[in-house]
Amino acid sequence: MTTMTNHPAPLVQMRGMHKTYGAIQALRGVDIEFIPGEIHGLVGANGAGKSTLVRTLAGLEQPDGGTILIGGEPATIHDPGVAAELGFAFIHQELNLVSSFTGAQNIMLGNRAGAPTRLRRFTGVPPEARAVADRIGITFSLEQPVSTLTVHQQWLVSIARALVHDCRLLAMDEPTASLGAEEADKVLGVARDLAAQGVAVLLISHRLDEVTAACDRVTVFRDGAVSLAMGRDEISRHAIVEAIVGHNVVPGGRKNPVPPSHGAPVVLMARNIKRGRNLRNASFDLHQGELLGIAGLVGAGRTELARVVFGADRAEDGIMRLRGADYAPRSVHDAIASSIAYVPEERRAEALFLTMSVASNLHITTWHKLRAGKTPLTSVRKSRTAAQEMSKRLGIVLRGGGTEQPIGALSGGNQQKVVIGRWLAVNPDVLILDEPTRAVDIGARSDIYARIREIALQGTSVIVISSEFEELLECDRVIVLSSGTTVAELTGDKVTVNEMLRHCYA
Ligand SMILES: Nc1ncnc2c1ncn2[C@@H]1O[C@H](COP(=O)(O)OP(=O)(O)OP(=O)(O)O)[C@@H](O)[C@H]1O
Ligand SMILES: [Mg+2]
Repeated sequence: MTTMTNHPAPLVQMRGMHKTYGAIQALRGVDIEFIPGEIHGLVGANGAGKSTLVRTLAGLEQPDGGTILIGGEPATIHDPGVAAELGFAFIHQELNLVSSFTGAQNIMLGNRAGAPTRLRRFTGVPPEARAVADRIGITFSLEQPVSTLTVHQQWLVSIARALVHDCRLLAMDEPTASLGAEEADKVLGVARDLAAQGVAVLLISHRLDEVTAACDRVTVFRDGAVSLAMGRDEISRHAIVEAIVGHNVVPGGRKNPVPPSHGAPVVLMARNIKRGRNLRNASFDLHQGELLGIAGLVGAGRTELARVVFGADRAEDGIMRLRGADYAPRSVHDAIASSIAYVPEERRAEALFLTMSVASNLHITTWHKLRAGKTPLTSVRKSRTAAQEMSKRLGIVLRGGGTEQPIGALSGGNQQKVVIGRWLAVNPDVLILDEPTRAVDIGARSDIYARIREIALQGTSVIVISSEFEELLECDRVIVLSSGTTVAELTGDKVTVNEMLRHCYA
């Protein structure tokens, strides 16, 4: 029901925004406004232009055309200083912390009252920083350099930094992508409180559940333009999905009650694996050509288990057997030599060479294959064709730039797809994918799973770790980890989201 009463005037109105990068039109005449007291969701496929819009608001990019009105007055946001003056705060898609500063010092960088040069001198945790840290559930120490924190903890610090000062507008570019459900809820809760206090909030997210639950307004971007704009009463998941991908998406149910890998021999067996506090007693069997899902909440020990299998950490207890022989990798090198590959969850931070081309980033794992016995010239051509092929298969949006452009020029989600594609090209015996669809748009997710299934059918055994339990329905079998312990193994029609949740929280 709409009423005519006191609708606050928009804080920001953007009209006809244009931005091009070479041949790429990142924004093509976007009209959008942000209203105090509202959470405005921006969604769209990877490369649709969401981050570009936010970066123009932040003064990090200058638009090529269009006008920005702030409080009804035309304004130019020349640089990030201007945005800060205006009371705009940002959580960007990339981590940008000062690694030698402590958590508290980084948080206080968000507070415009503090001069950065004096920051290094303070010790301890100022009350403002403590308050915001408590609000989003930070329990780790804020008195050590952020370089010693996990990537996940660094994200929480960067969110706290955006929340520490009073602001009129808060723009969050995928703030929850690296968070578990509970932490994501906390962050969204803070966003809701701020909106209730009259802040205009922008939320970019690929998690449509949280968008439909949290937002008062949703704008869908497609190819740099607005393809759908909805007010509170019109928001529907179905309409959003259609506007993102441009066609109807059939909701995927469980496709393989009897998986193709049924009865295949065990390739990798792990029993009672223990490591540190987070991994206590994990066991699983991985069959040849199988898609094995590992479900669990953040902190359940999933990544820790993957790291032990990949030789990045050593098990303190328990045994593993690979193809029937004892397997105790002492390094990542051992694991790779045993034909085990691992795609980490923080792919962009850990795995990309940002100034190198898309093609080089895709082929870093397969150079030896491309080069074998060929002259350099053929391998370049081969590399390009193979890169184009893989980009097409995974729906990597290259726009005008092709596979020779630096990967840093791709949107966040498209960068993620490149790292996945790199490993899908290798066909190892065992492939471990940690959160393979994080930051990847809804259309490309099914492409990625289709490709994973393809390589499984060729004999690769795949372990998928995902917080998106719905995606684990693609798996042949799912084990559930809780507090570092395998608490359930789900097969057949027991592979349901409800069963996974039930065991996670049991
Ligand atoms: N610095 C740059 N140089 C060249 N092209 C760029 C640059 N930044 C962005 N682009 C291009 O602009 C387009 C829009 O990118 P943008 O980052 O806004 O997408 P997005 O909607 O945020 O996607 P994602 O969901 O993957 O984060 C993409 O085609 C991207 O490759
Ligand atoms: Mg983005």
